[in-house]
Amino acid sequence: MSPTACPRAPFPSYGPVMTENAITVQQTARPHGFPTTKDFAFVESAIPDPAVGSALVENLYWSVDPYHREMMDDVPGGFALHTPLEGRALGRVVASRTPELPEGEIVFHRQGWRTHSVVRPDEIRKIPRFDGVPLTAYLSVLGGTGLTAYVGLTRIARLREGDDLFVSAAAGGVGTATGRFARLLGAGRLVGSAGSAAKVDHLTREVGYDTAFDYHDGPAAELLAKAAPDGIDVFVDNVGGEQLAAAVGALREFGRIVRIGTISRYNTPDAPPPHFNYSDIVEKSLRMEGFLVSNYRDLQDELYEFAVPHLQSGRLALDQTVVDGFEHIVDAFLGMLHGKNTGKIIVRDHP
Ligand SMILES: NC(=O)c1ccc[n+]([C@@H]2O[C@H](COP(=O)([O-])OP(=O)(O)OC[C@H]3O[C@@H](n4cnc5c(N)ncnc54)[C@H](OP(=O)(O)O)[C@@H]3O)[C@@H](O)[C@H]2O)c1
Repeated sequence: MSPTACPRAPFPSYGPVMTENAITVQQTARPHGFPTTKDFAFVESAIPDPAVGSALVENLYWSVDPYHREMMDDVPGGFALHTPLEGRALGRVVASRTPELPEGEIVFHRQGWRTHSVVRPDEIRKIPRFDGVPLTAYLSVLGGTGLTAYVGLTRIARLREGDDLFVSAAAGGVGTATGRFARLLGAGRLVGSAGSAAKVDHLTREVGYDTAFDYHDGPAAELLAKAAPDGIDVFVDNVGGEQLAAAVGALREFGRIVRIGTISRYNTPDAPPPHFNYSDIVEKSLRMEGFLVSNYRDLQDELYEFAVPHLQSGRLALDQTVVDGFEHIVDAFLGMLHGKNTGKIIVRDHP
């Protein structure tokens, strides 16, 4: 199995010179609109010693996610300033003071955005090493991104064979996983939207979408009507805004809207909310339901059972943009907010 070749995106160079010390990324200011490198600092300190009952992990892969942007605002549960940021990461135990975390073990944890993390056994998930499955998959289709797509389709949309779907931000991590999973689950016609011609091409050539459009090319309602002239049964919404309004119009009777995210507003919170015909919800018996993947962690093993055999057989490929070097983690995050990724964006320690 080999990852799908995703178009490469330029990631500018910003970050520290890497040293033998530990480095954490900290937020230094609350951004208005799009964050910039000025809102972050790389802070160097001695490599921490694990206390009894914990272990030192050297991180290998980091996930940067849209929810980090939401947490940069002054909101309950948001990031504290001048404190190491959290995030999903994979690392190797390099020093241990607990038999539950032997040296050499690869673990998943949430103390990312730093080169080294000290973790307790209750703060990690051990990674089942399935034959032929690369580590990055545990942050993409087998991680929170894939679980989000899987929950959206199986639990929220309650996908039926032959259902026609429209997916927004279809070329991102959740969007590509949604397209590939929907195909494997027997969906009908797949329509996706994305932010560039290269992404549209990737969706139809590689991911299995039947058609796709660049949402910059005109009003969403017109673009969707052209792409799905006979309507849709399910809208998997990563974006909100104008595309959500268009989808309400395009949904057939008993249609379902799976609200996953609202990335069109994370950097423009003052943008006007979408206007749609509320009567459509009644007249077409539509159902709109949102969810947080954190409430569906119990489905992790079910996701492995579903996805791993397909990964091993090659029927499921990985869509990933991998950025090399922890020093580029802020660039990777900012780039993702500007759409520079195709598939799940992952930062990798220098090989
Ligand atoms: N509910 C949950 O538990 C849960 C879990 C995970 C993720 N999410 C949500 O799912 C969505 C996708 O997350 P992801 O991790 O897979 O990120 P992603 O899609 O890989 O990356 C974000 C993408 O959003 C697109 N985008 C940015 N600004 C946009 C705008 N104004 N309008 C339309 N598209 C825009 C960009 O692609 P383009 O080039 O196409 O613009 C960018 O690549 C986000 O809304 C996220 O918050 C929710």
